[in-house]
Amino acid sequence: MPLDEGRTVSASNEGHLLIGGCDAVELARRYGTPLYVLDEGRVREAMRAYRRAMEESYPKGRVLYAGKALLTAAMCRIAAEEGLGLDVVSGGELYTALTAQFPPERIYFHGNNKSDEELDMAVQAGVGRIVVDNEGELERLERAAQRAGRPADVLLRITPGVAADTHSYVRTGQLDSKFGIPMARGQALAAAKRAAASPWLRLRGYHSHIGSQITDLSPYDAAVDLMVRFLAEAQRETGVAAQQLNMGGGLGIRYLDEQDVPAPDAFVRRIARRVLARVEEAGLPAPELLLEPGRSIVGPAGVTLYTVGFVKRIPGVRTYVMIDGGMGDNPRVALYRTRHRAVLANKLGAAPAAGPVAVAGKYCESGDVLIEELHGPEPEPGDVLAVFDTGAYNFSMASNYNRIPRPAMVLVHQGRHELMVRRETYADLVARDVVPSWLAAATGGGAAGGSTKPE
Ligand code: LLP
Repeated sequence: MPLDEGRTVSASNEGHLLIGGCDAVELARRYGTPLYVLDEGRVREAMRAYRRAMEESYPKGRVLYAGKALLTAAMCRIAAEEGLGLDVVSGGELYTALTAQFPPERIYFHGNNKSDEELDMAVQAGVGRIVVDNEGELERLERAAQRAGRPADVLLRITPGVAADTHSYVRTGQLDSKFGIPMARGQALAAAKRAAASPWLRLRGYHSHIGSQITDLSPYDAAVDLMVRFLAEAQRETGVAAQQLNMGGGLGIRYLDEQDVPAPDAFVRRIARRVLARVEEAGLPAPELLLEPGRSIVGPAGVTLYTVGFVKRIPGVRTYVMIDGGMGDNPRVALYRTRHRAVLANKLGAAPAAGPVAVAGKYCESGDVLIEELHGPEPEPGDVLAVFDTGAYNFSMASNYNRIPRPAMVLVHQGRHELMVRRETYADLVARDVVPSWLAAATGGGAAGGSTKPE
């Protein structure tokens, strides 16, 4: 694979992979594996590309980073420094952002089933917007605002009824979706009227997100058309002009060389132009345009490093190369059958082996095969495998299956490297375990096993 691609991934003289100017083999030795490596330069570049495109193509625009892709204190700092807003989707993400001192007024709180506690937390923290997902939430939010004694600024999430061409698990714009208020059958309009009439809610605008890992942008055209038509209708019916239109995130990234994926710049410009044209036609004031990308900001900036353990050869069938991570740190392969590019980080430029090998994880499932066919040099125990494009939805979806601690994450930038998430320990794994008192009493007396002991 071409290594110049991210400009910050390259090869050292020794044939080692460099990420953000750091030797991947050194990183693996120093921090242990599996290790998530995040290239700060690439994250910032992507954030800037989005902001620049927005500034150049739309009069009033704003870019939010969708934290569900990867949220840690360091990520909050980077997004804040780059002037982005933040989309959070749970009390936990909100807590992460607030403890990292992310400006609350730049936070947009999403979620299809927010609890009263989460709503209270968001209202009390003074988040910028609460994106209301359904009619029931309108009522709950009104009560939360009342409890806090301050009205809440809201966007309504609308399901436009557009089906994007992506994995069905990450498609969200169609009528039959758990997300959003359907535009169809007047439901969205009724919700808009309800919000506009409430003394405790300030209706600021509308939101739509049609899905994720989208590489054909045409469904966005349809979504924009429907949303702007809705804006016009809602303005007529409620008397409230939408100040904001949030078209969500969802731009795909190139996981494989042969994939053709639009750049953030093209994505922003296409949506911006379409919104401008449609609002003009409708005679509406141009609302502030918001986009909230996640994957396309952090995905390509992440690389996961593993160490090769055993190599199992089944002659005439397949060779399995076992690595020290797998579906626990990257559940996406098992969930969506994602395919990744990967290289042996210590053997760049070495002669290729006769045939491909399968890269298997260490989790107790046959489905834990991270890469079905890895081409390249012969893998041997101790080699460092680098799997690319793991910055999004890997750390954030990781699990402790098999009680395997979750990896550390290191931030690299211009040859510097430092931890941004420490590795989980075995002590972390048992820290939340509690033994119910009756069990403790039974085993505390030494009875366990005692009765079956031969006399
Ligand atoms: N806005 C909303 C309301 C969303 O639900 C999402 C993603 C985004 C923005 C950001 O979308 P992105 O730009 O990252 O595509 N776990 C799946 C992806 C789930 C996406 C959930 N929502 C995966 O690993 O592919």
